[in-house]
Amino acid sequence: MNIDTKQLLSAAEAVSHAAYAPYSKFSVGAAVLADDGRVFTGVNVENASYGLTICAERSAVFAAVAAGATRLVAVAIYTPTPKPASPCGACRQVLAEFAENMQVLLGCQGDEIAEYTLDELLPEQFKL
Ligand code: THU
Repeated sequence: MNIDTKQLLSAAEAVSHAAYAPYSKFSVGAAVLADDGRVFTGVNVENASYGLTICAERSAVFAAVAAGATRLVAVAIYTPTPKPASPCGACRQVLAEFAENMQVLLGCQGDEIAEYTLDELLPEQFKL
């Protein structure tokens, strides 16, 4: 599938404003692209019991799965940082469950964009 990088990154940035991050003040947005062209977004949702926090990437994946989209081809992640920031290890593993070798696009407050494949970010993935 031809991936509209800019569109996916701007969906991630737009949704980041809906993050619930009163503790870290670090609002993250993620947008996943399914193989049927649908886009699902997610934000980090924190909790007073900090460990219950869910990252934006997993929120987006779970929204996709709930809508029946279990084959994901790309993810865009926006972080409020001067440079692109990579997804955490837990989210990499969750993304891998629903992707063959997805494209990972990272956007930030600066102009810089980083592009990886999930295989680069998470080699030797655990899959059953
Ligand atoms: N966070 C994400 O949403 N995605 C990541 O990949 C790393 C961290 C969130 C979790 C927490 O709400 C805040 O960023 C600070 O760690």
